[in-house]
Amino acid sequence: MVKKRVLFVCLGNICRSPMAEAVMRHQVELANLSERIEVDSAGTGDWHLGHPPHEGTRQQLDEHHISYEGMKARLVSSTDFDAFDYIVCMDTNNLRDVRKLLSKEQGEQAKLFTFMELLPEQGIEDVPDPYYDGNFPFVFELVESGCKELLSRVQEDLN
Ligand code: 4NP
Repeated sequence: MVKKRVLFVCLGNICRSPMAEAVMRHQVELANLSERIEVDSAGTGDWHLGHPPHEGTRQQLDEHHISYEGMKARLVSSTDFDAFDYIVCMDTNNLRDVRKLLSKEQGEQAKLFTFMELLPEQGIEDVPDPYYDGNFPFVFELVESGCKELLSRVQEDLN
């Protein structure tokens, strides 16, 4: 049975990428695909290693009845590139930082892309960082729509 693994990457791994991880896993569960699609997240910065998601992210997930149980911040590493089929960076800085961990050929593979490439109609390059502007509800909206699109792409790849 083919399995696909998705990794979301942001800076601190406490706001955006854990939100995307929890929302994507929730959507995967609703689609009865938990056996076939695995979801994780990681950060490029090490300030919050081992910490649970940020209060603002937890509030959004609580409001939408989405679990974040047991989630803890970790660092992204070059070995993630071999373990995951899709590496989705929440902004273009994250993409640049992940590329630095990889060889040029690895960094140019289609599996590495930004989250906003899933939502071209939004006309923005980066998922804005709510750690700085506090706009967690807007990030939740983007994350919910982007994960829907990503799920349909992953589903096609499973078939
Ligand atoms: P995130 O947000 O990358 O969406 O998790 C941030 C979290 C922490 C910091 C920056 C951004 N920080 O500088 O500690």
